[in-house]
Amino acid sequence: MTQAGLEAGVADHYTTSTLLERIADGLAKAGKDLHSATAEDLKPVDEFHIGGLVATQALLDQVELSATSRVIDLGSGIGGTARHIAQRSGAKVTGIDLTSEFVEVAQKLSDLVGVNTIFKTGSVLDIPEPDDEFDLATLIHVGMNIADKDKLFAEAARVLKPGGSFAVYDVMQTADEPISFPVPWATTPDQSHLDRPQVYRDAAAGAGFSLVAERDRSDFARDFFAKLTARIAESGPPPLGLPLIFGAQAGEKMANMLENVDAKRIAPVEMIFALG
Ligand SMILES: C[S@@+](CC[C@H](N)C(=O)[O-])C[C@H]1O[C@@H](n2cnc3c(N)ncnc32)[C@H](O)[C@@H]1O
Repeated sequence: MTQAGLEAGVADHYTTSTLLERIADGLAKAGKDLHSATAEDLKPVDEFHIGGLVATQALLDQVELSATSRVIDLGSGIGGTARHIAQRSGAKVTGIDLTSEFVEVAQKLSDLVGVNTIFKTGSVLDIPEPDDEFDLATLIHVGMNIADKDKLFAEAARVLKPGGSFAVYDVMQTADEPISFPVPWATTPDQSHLDRPQVYRDAAAGAGFSLVAERDRSDFARDFFAKLTARIAESGPPPLGLPLIFGAQAGEKMANMLENVDAKRIAPVEMIFALG
């Protein structure tokens, strides 16, 4: 399949057309109003990856970030990570995402909660930004949709300044046996492009990055899912949570991801790279 065909399939997988309404509805059920919500109020739904804000923070703790940093979040979803980075550090943050509904919702949410971030529709394989622009790039649960890891790392290297950091937190393949579908990033196998950690390391090295740190987050993920399942068993699904963003088959996607992690077919892995 062509890159354009692949990307159209990915955007189609994530698009629901009613996301902002469902977030407003979830907030209302939680006793909050979309128009007076804070960035914190959005946290249960706007970090679309295993471990949510805790995982984002754990990744960011490993990189330098200051008010003068220029940051790009590759595959920014509805913008939770970008807003968190901007709020935490005062850095100027740009998010790039393929799914235009996510980009529109991300911008709208940032405007509503008063956080200064910029979101653009585009592919991380052809980033709509100049060379040598950013101090830090982040990529959180995005590579599973990207077949061409060499191009992904080459584009990240192009937009980073020399010495810049690339913080990756992706679900990676850890066994040969096939995974169960649907999962949050793919309804069908043709939309899923899981790779082994070594593929990431090789692609990064080929683009001029050196590996600074790497950590398998499977234990953290299992603990996160166990606590989530216990909370749901006790008090039911929360009004505002990631299933809102999963779209159709939300329950199956979540259950399959859990099963795939438990069976050690996949693992969430952090990798921190430095350019040069
Ligand atoms: C599981 S979501 C994670 C979103 C966000 N990083 C987060 O953690 O909240 C995956 C995101 O990657 C985006 N994506 C997938 N392939 C992409 C590509 N080639 N270029 C830009 N965004 C892409 C999807 O549109 C989706 O928003």
